[in-house]
Amino acid sequence: MKKIGRRSFTKATVAAGAVAAVSRKRIPGANDRINLGLIGCGDRGMDVWGTFLKQPDAMPVAVCDVYQPFTAKAAATGTGVKRFEDFRRLLELKEVDAVVIGTPDHWHAMPTIMACQAGKDVYVEKPLSLTVVEGRKMLEAARRFNRVVQTGSQQRSGTHYQEAVKLIREGGIGAVHKITAGYTRNVMPGFKPREFGAEKPHDLNWDMWLGPAPKVPFDPFRCIYHFRWFWDYSGGQMTNWGAHNLDITRWALGARGPLAVSAYGGRFALTDGGETPDIQEVLYDFGNCVVAWSGREVNHTRDEFLAFHGVKGTLNIVRSGFTVTPETWRPTRGKDTPAMEPMQMPGEGKGMDTLHIRNFLDCIKSRKRPVADVEEGHLTATMCHLGNIATRLKRSLQWDTEKERFVNDAEANSMLSRPYRAPWKLI
Ligand SMILES: NC(=O)c1ccc[n+]([C@@H]2O[C@H](COP(=O)([O-])OP(=O)(O)OC[C@H]3O[C@@H](n4cnc5c(N)ncnc54)[C@H](O)[C@@H]3O)[C@@H](O)[C@H]2O)c1
Repeated sequence: MKKIGRRSFTKATVAAGAVAAVSRKRIPGANDRINLGLIGCGDRGMDVWGTFLKQPDAMPVAVCDVYQPFTAKAAATGTGVKRFEDFRRLLELKEVDAVVIGTPDHWHAMPTIMACQAGKDVYVEKPLSLTVVEGRKMLEAARRFNRVVQTGSQQRSGTHYQEAVKLIREGGIGAVHKITAGYTRNVMPGFKPREFGAEKPHDLNWDMWLGPAPKVPFDPFRCIYHFRWFWDYSGGQMTNWGAHNLDITRWALGARGPLAVSAYGGRFALTDGGETPDIQEVLYDFGNCVVAWSGREVNHTRDEFLAFHGVKGTLNIVRSGFTVTPETWRPTRGKDTPAMEPMQMPGEGKGMDTLHIRNFLDCIKSRKRPVADVEEGHLTATMCHLGNIATRLKRSLQWDTEKERFVNDAEANSMLSRPYRAPWKLI
């Protein structure tokens, strides 16, 4: 068994890109503090904010949420931290260098684009976008205003993910023609509202929570955490966990996107009011490799998984590490022989968050592209959106990655963007 220690990892495998030009007034130097704002102080926002604040050069300056008790909790993480309900006011603060965006998915695009316009760098949670067109506009804004935009896909900073991608790309497990990924669990009989009762709390700005999404009466189930199960705000596990493991898939393949997608599924068992599938099977055609995604909310069996099936071995990877199990080849004469040595490598688990945040802060200073640059976030979110569009239309679709359009399918193309509720506009 070949055991790979994390320290032996070579930095050369990190997909750091070109140096971005800089156009703003203040560029924090190597020893400077970076003044941070947090937009969206829920579960994940507070989680990453806590990790940011453990970095010696990270300084909390302002926080924003549409639910006041969350803003108050976030403001208590520092001294003199300013509080806002409207993120546009936070973006007006000259002293803020960068923002961390932990809002629901339907509120990723606009704050990111406006932050870029205001000269701030951005750490925005995955999935990057709610639609393909949003992601493209976010990428354009980042490039136009020369901003560092890191997608919150922390697995890209995990040394064992980097090492696995390098191994696969160098042919270490032989040619890979099949990749299996997914996330399964059992949440029967369904989800329940987390934070609120039936009445809208007086200190929650529901209209601002909805933002560009269609107006609906206050619904405690749609709000905190469970926005994930409604098409107006998110894309279910396809975009939630798909944004993690399909990201690694696409990275290992060195591909921008698939040629075609087919999918089946629906919300068959759960009757809790959510909309996104509880069973979903998606197949992507990458030319010489098929990627299969399984999502299941009503039968557990295995948890998250990602397996690269090479002709010499199978690489199974999760956040705690990877293993390679050799395949056995059959010569015409003699004994069956293993095609390679078994291998294993531990992962950092939760420590990947720290590495990912560190990479972002370092890129703010160096002006390099971060490991999960907005373009990678956009291409991976796009792959997830394609799976959902094929599932909802119940047909196979051909995809033109360069044009970011489906081939000869006006109905599918109409699902690449969404109308925004006035006065909000996607710039
Ligand atoms: N990288 C990861 O491993 C990881 C893990 C969990 C969640 N996430 C991502 O983080 C995001 C948030 O998920 P969550 O579970 O923390 O949800 P959540 O509901 O707990 O938090 C979202 C917060 O955003 C606030 N909000 C809504 N609209 C706002 C607005 N206009 N301005 C300011 N605040 C607003 C909400 O009030 C809430 O406090 C999602 O996109 C999710 O995919 C990433």
